[in-house]
Amino acid sequence: MSIFICFIFLFPLFLILFKNLSPPKQKLPPGPTGLPIIGNLHQLGRFLHKSFHKLSLKHGPVMLLHFGFVPVVVFSSKETAKEVLKTHDLETCTRPKMVATGLFTYNFKDIGFTQYGEDWREMKKLVGLELFSPKKQKSFKYIREEESDLLVKKLSKSAQTQTPIDLGKALFSFTAGIIFRLAFGQNFRECDFIHMERVEELVLESETSVGTLAFTDFFPTGLGWLIDRISGQHSRVNKVFSKLTSFFQHVIDDHLKTKQRQDPSDLVSTMLDMINKPTKSGSLKITSDHLKGVMSDVFLAGVNAGVITMIWAMTELTRHPKVMKKLQEEIRTTLGSNKDRITEEDLQKVDYMKLVIEETFRLHPPAPLLLPRLTMSDIKIQGYNIPKNTMIEINTYTIGRDPKCWTNPEEFIPERFINTSISYKGQHFEFLPFGAGRRSCPGMALGITIVELGLLNLLYFFNWSLPEGMSIADIDMEEVGALNIAKKLPLELVPTLHHS
Ligand code: HEM
Ligand SMILES: *[C@@H]1O[C@H](CO)[C@@H](O)[C@H](O)[C@H]1NC(C)=O
Ligand SMILES: *[C@@H]1O[C@H](CO)[C@@H](O)[C@H](O)[C@H]1NC(C)=O
Repeated sequence: MSIFICFIFLFPLFLILFKNLSPPKQKLPPGPTGLPIIGNLHQLGRFLHKSFHKLSLKHGPVMLLHFGFVPVVVFSSKETAKEVLKTHDLETCTRPKMVATGLFTYNFKDIGFTQYGEDWREMKKLVGLELFSPKKQKSFKYIREEESDLLVKKLSKSAQTQTPIDLGKALFSFTAGIIFRLAFGQNFRECDFIHMERVEELVLESETSVGTLAFTDFFPTGLGWLIDRISGQHSRVNKVFSKLTSFFQHVIDDHLKTKQRQDPSDLVSTMLDMINKPTKSGSLKITSDHLKGVMSDVFLAGVNAGVITMIWAMTELTRHPKVMKKLQEEIRTTLGSNKDRITEEDLQKVDYMKLVIEETFRLHPPAPLLLPRLTMSDIKIQGYNIPKNTMIEINTYTIGRDPKCWTNPEEFIPERFINTSISYKGQHFEFLPFGAGRRSCPGMALGITIVELGLLNLLYFFNWSLPEGMSIADIDMEEVGALNIAKKLPLELVPTLHHS
């Protein structure tokens, strides 16, 4: 008998032996069957949160997929989100290293995309002190109120002529005005090197670049690298990045030129002062890459989520005139009818508006998948083994629509939040617009204040109607986006001054 035939007969025997000798297979989570090499990539559509949603209805709240060679586990229930973000927070709180996130953060010198560790902690502390501390919030109050005045002025002009206004543009200018003045010491309305419109484009382009899947991340070196270069992904992303870098450089140069800074100082000037000096607490040396990394975070994470939330809120209010009426009546009764200006104290008085914002977050979480995490060791969740170096996605879009947590989940009913203790602060895992645990959003308080202030100004001073010839049924609810999911078509409404 030739060796070959011998081998054919013996091969099954080897297989059986080998199977019995190898250690028992760990129980991995279920998931859709993929193809060799590409894994499940062909089963994903235009929007990851919606593709995951559909697949999880079939495969359950702990679901294993493969993006090329990279294992990804998607969690889609309140219970599993809690196990990841609370019980196993420490073992899952790093971020995957990806090509685009590395590029846009100057090789992970930021907070949002950087791997867990001492540098991340120190950067977070520094930015927390300079941008998010209650003291800073107080000292920047005048900026928020000035920007509110500008917003109302702009809307009043449209009201006088009864022309529709693109709310997205108006609210971007409002939000970016606030955030960039706090962080960059500049609003880009009166600036000689860039226009607000270009800033908005650049925010969206940068977000798309960072949020779009790159093949290099999911295939062994060589193959993915090649695909990204052939498809143009590589050059697209790098083009956007070089625009962003030169924009940041302009901001920095501007700071260096005008040494005399006004008080309170902004994040950029504070960090410029620290460059190449050791921080008070010790080890981390701040470099210009850290400065630009943080600017990137502010740019990518600070502006858009708030704008998106306000747009979805105004969209839902327009679709639900009864809710709009109840809300405006509450606001106007509570605040009286002769205010010239909304102040931040007013925000504490309008309870129903808070419910409207919560309901908006539930149905339209701006970052439905939060930001991806990565397991740092093997963990077990609901009996399933999740190996080290698995990418983790929490689908808050699915959780916000889970009939086990919410009655009539598809309906917009702000009253559902009345008699619950559920809040967005990361303690209630059925409702996670800002995430939870170590990696949750550090800009939450600022973000909420901006959203409340923007909406209260819109709703106190103006009545809103659809442009002539348009009815509620014509409002388009399609989505767009990569990291942040926004309303696709602009929301155009006609303001009418309520008090004249
Ligand atoms: C309505 C407004 C906002 C929403 C809904 C929002 C939402 C989020 C979400 C969902 C995450 C990911 C959390 C996770 O992975 O578990 C996040 C992270 C982050 N956000 Fe926000 N955010 C908002 C405003 C802001 C603002 C105003 C800033 C700063 C100017 C900011 C800075 C950040 C940063 C730096 C991170 C990364 C944190 C880390 O990885 O350690 N966000 N945000
Ligand atoms: C909330 O609770 C109060 C008092 O406990 C009750 O009067 C009210 O009807 C409840 N509202 C809703 C929407 O359940
Ligand atoms: C604005 O709407 C309220 C009802 O929500 C109405 O009572 C009021 O007359 C309207 N004001 C104007 C100027 O149309």
